[in-house]
Amino acid sequence: MFASDFLSIRDFTPAQIRHLLDLACQVKAMPAAYSRSLRGKTLALIFEKPSLRTRVSFDVGIQQLGGFSIYLSPVEINLGKRESVYDVAKNLERMVQGIMIRTFAHKIVDDMAAFASIPVINGLTDYSHPCQAMADYLTIFEAKGRLAGLKLAYVGDGNNVAHSLMFAGAQLGVHVAVAAPDGYEPDRVALDWARKRAAETGGSCTVTNDPTIAVRDADVVYTDAWTSMGQEAEAEVRRKIFLPYQVNAKLFARAKVDAIFMHCLPAHRGEEVTDEVIDSPRSFVFQEAENRLHAQKAIMLELMRDESVAAQEPSATQELELVK
Ligand code: CP
Ligand code: NVA
Repeated sequence: MFASDFLSIRDFTPAQIRHLLDLACQVKAMPAAYSRSLRGKTLALIFEKPSLRTRVSFDVGIQQLGGFSIYLSPVEINLGKRESVYDVAKNLERMVQGIMIRTFAHKIVDDMAAFASIPVINGLTDYSHPCQAMADYLTIFEAKGRLAGLKLAYVGDGNNVAHSLMFAGAQLGVHVAVAAPDGYEPDRVALDWARKRAAETGGSCTVTNDPTIAVRDADVVYTDAWTSMGQEAEAEVRRKIFLPYQVNAKLFARAKVDAIFMHCLPAHRGEEVTDEVIDSPRSFVFQEAENRLHAQKAIMLELMRDESVAAQEPSATQELELVK
């Protein structure tokens, strides 16, 4: 069995992360081969925060695999208030075959997985966004033809997206350089984990307050919103603090000449990124958004497909040259 849940990139081995990317490439290339893989299976989509990409990609993704989804908005469940996480888990496991959840505290996702006997997928918490990182490294692989040894500069808030990029980068032998303002660096435990794993895979993980240092010689320049969902009250203060971290043409020009730009979206044009960068030919943001679909189909297949169905599908053992 591959795994029972998809909660954090840290829960997997480097080989398992590479396997998921291999499968995502295969699903993207041959979608018809998987059109009945999750026939009759239903995925509950629990959203405690807004979403465009996560909602649409999971909804369309499970349909393309032969299954169904049910969207449960914040007002419907009101997790922990109208009903406890335990009770929600115990209800859903009797009616659906998987749960995707986007919420605030990471503990809620861990609790849901501990209580529910069905697979649980982390669709973003305050701490991490693992599905995003899988789509991101799939996109980088498509753009660059390899992953190990590349340098990814993450410029901005040391947030959920930064953490998952650090974890996945460490698993894949990537050099991840984070530039964040003083007090907004990534979590220390996340950094220590990424450094330790990167030491085993040939990658690295560094943190600086200077965006020009992070971006130097980068193959990928990545940014995200300065104010994440749930932090709206801090938006004005953050806008001032983060201004030197804006990815504009001047900062982007310090990266390699063929560096690509990435952003998980939604973007706040004129804040963390300027139009000239996000609309440039070297911006991969929409391919990155599309890849949420393919990466998550691979995750759903590994978690939810019956073994008898898997045996009839093309094998995803063709190791792509992710690690050289
Ligand atoms: N990148 C991302 O997760 O987008 P949504 O918030 O729209 O789902
Ligand atoms: N860091 C952002 C990511 C949105 C996809 C947030 O949590 O709001």
